[in-house]
Amino acid sequence: MTRRDTDVSPLAHADQGVVATVASEVDRSVETTLRPTSLADFVGQRELVGHLHIVLGAARTRGQCPDHLLFAGPPGLGKTSLASIVAHEMGAGIRVTSGPVLARPGDLVALLTDLLEGEVLFIDEIHRLPRTVEEVLYLAMEDRRLDVMIGRGPSARSIRLDLPHFTLVGATTRTGLVAAPLRDRFGFVGALELYEREELRQIVERSAGLLGVALRGDAAGVIAQRARGTPRIANRLLRRVRDVASVEAHEIVDEVVAAAALERFGVDEQGLDKVDRRILGLLCGPFAQLPVGLTTLSHACGEETATIEDAYEPYLLREGFLTRTPRGRIATDKAFAHLGLRRPGGGLV
Ligand SMILES: Nc1ncnc2c1ncn2[C@@H]1O[C@H](COP(=O)(O)OP(=O)(O)O)[C@@H](O)[C@H]1O
Ligand SMILES: [Mg+2]
Repeated sequence: MTRRDTDVSPLAHADQGVVATVASEVDRSVETTLRPTSLADFVGQRELVGHLHIVLGAARTRGQCPDHLLFAGPPGLGKTSLASIVAHEMGAGIRVTSGPVLARPGDLVALLTDLLEGEVLFIDEIHRLPRTVEEVLYLAMEDRRLDVMIGRGPSARSIRLDLPHFTLVGATTRTGLVAAPLRDRFGFVGALELYEREELRQIVERSAGLLGVALRGDAAGVIAQRARGTPRIANRLLRRVRDVASVEAHEIVDEVVAAAALERFGVDEQGLDKVDRRILGLLCGPFAQLPVGLTTLSHACGEETATIEDAYEPYLLREGFLTRTPRGRIATDKAFAHLGLRRPGGGLV
């Protein structure tokens, strides 16, 4: 099914959280259009980009494949973009797959034996590879070798296949999720951080240019301010602002139009959406007296534990709305103030 962007009523998504909203087909294809293609296009993550310049530059000078690379960080920060940038910078082809798709060792063997010399193999959500598949990967990463069993029973024998040179690029939401033996086989591990407002503003300006949206004044800054440190969300908010502008026939989008459009989608000036406010509402309401565990919080707000940990908490923590203690999550004074509530008893928990 294909849908034109303009067919989507801007209020159709108004009830959903911006972060967890499953990207529509249209959103996903726009995302591909907006993806930076070279390191020079990639805004922010200065330290990581600096290291990549060195790793990729050195490999190019030697005429070799770069070491295997692992990128870790919350969703929407640019891991998939970096994988294709690595291939582009090396002038190499890229094969894309993900952990959950590679269910059996044979799936990975088929993919590896099909690789061409110098190609990049990108495995998204690499922490979700089954253990048996992971073991095949160890030999392939270390020795460019596969041991394949042929036949069954007493006549079964193992044959050895040599693989071409390749670079494995893995992506994961948290390095801690990747089993240590796998993590150790990567030559470089890059952690992506939430972006600063100014970096997001540049990303919004760039995307607006690509999408042909006329932003004026500080409209890009208003969108950046509410994007929770995440380029994917910045681009998504920009598209919603564009929807509202086209429905309301604003030819030029200034900061007032942008702010009003985002309010309509339930995104407040701190970038918090309905799900964030639900999480904070629980921590400042029913659970205000005690630290609360992740599982309880997940049941109470109806989001997966992984979604809360990977997509919501990093921003809430960075902005100081909640803190994590060994006994659980606690709302901060800032959260109470943001929701216009008073901490029961007035003191610290
Ligand atoms: N550093 C960046 N500069 C410009 N755009 C970016 C950057 N990082 C991410 N994006 C944008 O955000 C979108 C999501 O990035 P993606 O690489 O898919 O994130 P991840 O794989 O970490 O979830 C991309 O389509 C791209 O438009
Ligand atoms: Mg990705």
